[in-house]
Amino acid sequence: NAHTRLAQVMPSLVRHLHDFAREVDLTVAEWMAAVEFINACGRMSTDRRNETQLLCDILGLESLVDEITSKQLSTPGSQLTPSAILGPFYRHDAPLLPANSSIVFNLTPSVPWYDQAIADSAHLTGRVFSSASPQKPIRNAIVDVWHTAPNGLYEQQDASQPDMNLRGRFATDADGRYALYCLRPVAYPIPDDGPAGQLLAMLDRRPQRPGHIHFIVSAPGHRTLTTQIFDARDEYIDKDSVFAVKDELVVRFVPRAGDERARWSLEYDFVLGVD
Ligand code: DHB
Ligand code: FE
Repeated sequence: NAHTRLAQVMPSLVRHLHDFAREVDLTVAEWMAAVEFINACGRMSTDRRNETQLLCDILGLESLVDEITSKQLSTPGSQLTPSAILGPFYRHDAPLLPANSSIVFNLTPSVPWYDQAIADSAHLTGRVFSSASPQKPIRNAIVDVWHTAPNGLYEQQDASQPDMNLRGRFATDADGRYALYCLRPVAYPIPDDGPAGQLLAMLDRRPQRPGHIHFIVSAPGHRTLTTQIFDARDEYIDKDSVFAVKDELVVRFVPRAGDERARWSLEYDFVLGVD
């Protein structure tokens, strides 16, 4: 239970913190600056922005705990889709949309990134499988998807986008298939106008993440999968500021012919573990 777990982890946390302080000869002034830094992250955090999580992410902590957790859950030989971090921009109430809907809402030529949205328009489809062998497609799995606009901003960061733009939930059909229209994702900097960004700059690190699309895939009787896919063309594919890229999650969009709604296609399947 929680109390036992706390009794197990606290001595280790204290030991590592003390070792760290001894190793770097931490001074009172430096410790106080760190306290103030953490307070500044907390003050900046709101429902719309989690600066403390961002701090953990640039330190690689969210990706590390993701890796530790997924190792505990994976069974040798199973072909589970790897997980990746949630990140700070998920909204749990994205609209449930019919198959083959577009999550690009109200796209008109007056939108500043209209041309790029056309050039990067994409059809995304695939199937959701259960890892129980033999792998079976899952009907009525929910594929919850979100990504940024071509300006690199999620809808809640950007007053010029309609509410819930580039977010949607899609139910799979009897073949386990989901399908939607979206955009090829672009590289963009994580929010770097706060304490986490200042720290990155002081460390001479870039805030960029490679272009990615987020997913939470869920189905009754199965473990919910939180993951991201990464566009192979991206120049930051091996320089993710939050260390989330895994080989199996790197995808190649291919040109799409005969569909005026999309210039690119991607087929990507998900395999969920059994609960
Ligand atoms: C982080 C993750 C994201 O997916 C993103 O878009 C921005 C930041 C993060 O881990 O902090
Ligand atoms: Fe993201």
